[in-house]
Amino acid sequence: MTKHIQFFDTTLRDGEQTPGVNFNTQEKIQLAKQLESWGIDVIEAGFPISSQGDFEAVQAIARELTTTRVCGLARCNRADIDRCHEALVDAKHKQIHVFIATSPIHREYKLNKSKQEILDSIQEHVTYAKSLFDHVQFSAEDATRTEPDFLAEACELAIQCGATIINIPDTVGYTNPSEYGQLFNYLQENVPSFDQAIFSCHCHDDLGLAVANSLAAIENGALRVEGTVNGIGERAGNAALEEVAVGLYIRRDHYQASTSINLGETKRTSDMVARLSGMAVPRNKAVIGANAYAHESGIHQDGVLKNPETYEIITPQLVGVKENALPLGKLSGRHAFISHLEELGYDTSDKEALSIAFNNFKDLADKKKTITETDLHAIMTGQNMEATSHYDLIKMQVQSIDENTHVATVAIVDHTGSQPQIKQDTAIGQGSVEAIFTTIEQLLGQEEVTLLEYRLDAVTDGIDAQAQVHVLVEMPNRQEVYAAGIDYDVLKASAKAYLQALERGSQHVKD
Ligand code: KIV
Ligand code: ZN
Repeated sequence: MTKHIQFFDTTLRDGEQTPGVNFNTQEKIQLAKQLESWGIDVIEAGFPISSQGDFEAVQAIARELTTTRVCGLARCNRADIDRCHEALVDAKHKQIHVFIATSPIHREYKLNKSKQEILDSIQEHVTYAKSLFDHVQFSAEDATRTEPDFLAEACELAIQCGATIINIPDTVGYTNPSEYGQLFNYLQENVPSFDQAIFSCHCHDDLGLAVANSLAAIENGALRVEGTVNGIGERAGNAALEEVAVGLYIRRDHYQASTSINLGETKRTSDMVARLSGMAVPRNKAVIGANAYAHESGIHQDGVLKNPETYEIITPQLVGVKENALPLGKLSGRHAFISHLEELGYDTSDKEALSIAFNNFKDLADKKKTITETDLHAIMTGQNMEATSHYDLIKMQVQSIDENTHVATVAIVDHTGSQPQIKQDTAIGQGSVEAIFTTIEQLLGQEEVTLLEYRLDAVTDGIDAQAQVHVLVEMPNRQEVYAAGIDYDVLKASAKAYLQALERGSQHVKD
């Protein structure tokens, strides 16, 4: 019989714990709406007590979503639970996620609590959470390194106190598929009220097994899977939900499981997370990497031409990879542009934002022969990224003096003060990117920044593709920050990415 697997996305909470990744509230709302369109059942929008910013983002998302359940994280203490309740009060569908560590190493070194004290805390706090929420998720942090009999006791107690979802996290990515599957089997047999709750899996990727472990849990009784888009997350990251979703679909003969995921929105969701997190997707990444549908060897190409199924188990169309040129060009009017945006699911009610988008589209259409759906998505995400920035790039010139000397002049509008201020500066560098980055550092008064990574990609194929630059920088306080910039011009895309990185780095210090 087919079972239904719920998808719980924690890109905005566990995903944001990735070093260097910081989403602002507007970006979180944009991502949450896209996750809703993708068909995610529950979004973990943040950890409301951790900061005012997290609280406001959870609250804003709670007010925005209509079909997806919004969840906030809380430790086993009343202040966390109250703050979560306050943040979620306006949500149409809400859930709380209460956790406490159960493993011997966490009990002894982190919490300094006995087994009985852990059980008492579960009893008190799950009961309290249940007095405020209908849907209560309890997580036994570091479950996979917990004594199985104690884990079963903790889960049973949480259910008795009102938990409706029990999560079994592999917090440190330690388990493997057969062991994790057996653990779910053990819990089915040893938690008397197993059937009264939904059991959920939550895997980290330290040993590269997060997706395999999640699928093993699903084979052994888990009815909910947790993870992030593109697998972003602390250390090696979380289970990549796009891989789990496509795995369940392609091998439905084996898993006999359905989901509510709208697979056609997968690529778009992944692209948005890559741009807003600043973390580029590796080309060979399963399901959504640029090479996932490329066939290089002659034998493979020949086979695919004769019958794509010879070497292609996933079609690019399944996950929404399409490069259809749109019937849009430099002569297209506003009306055609709006109707394409609406077809792609964008809200066009903000007239000011729409005018900017239309001008950006016209600029691009002047330079680029064919405009694709991906170009339109890039315009819209790039525009949102710029709309939330305090610095607008208004002019940039680079001159080559000799092979090793470039001079850059950059002008920006600085919106950080009470009045917008135009600022301009000039610097030299060995290459053009170095000259631009040094000028931006001078303009923002951030001269001790180290560039750790720089990656340039094309948004679409072809010589006239838009450029997408991803950078990773280290700020003077050693904090790492990812950022991305999109523009038709490679150097402008570089400047936008660097401006964004320095702005984020000076704003955020992770809790
Ligand atoms: O990995 C983990 O244990 C977590 C908990 C908060 C559930 O993210
Ligand atoms: Zn986690």
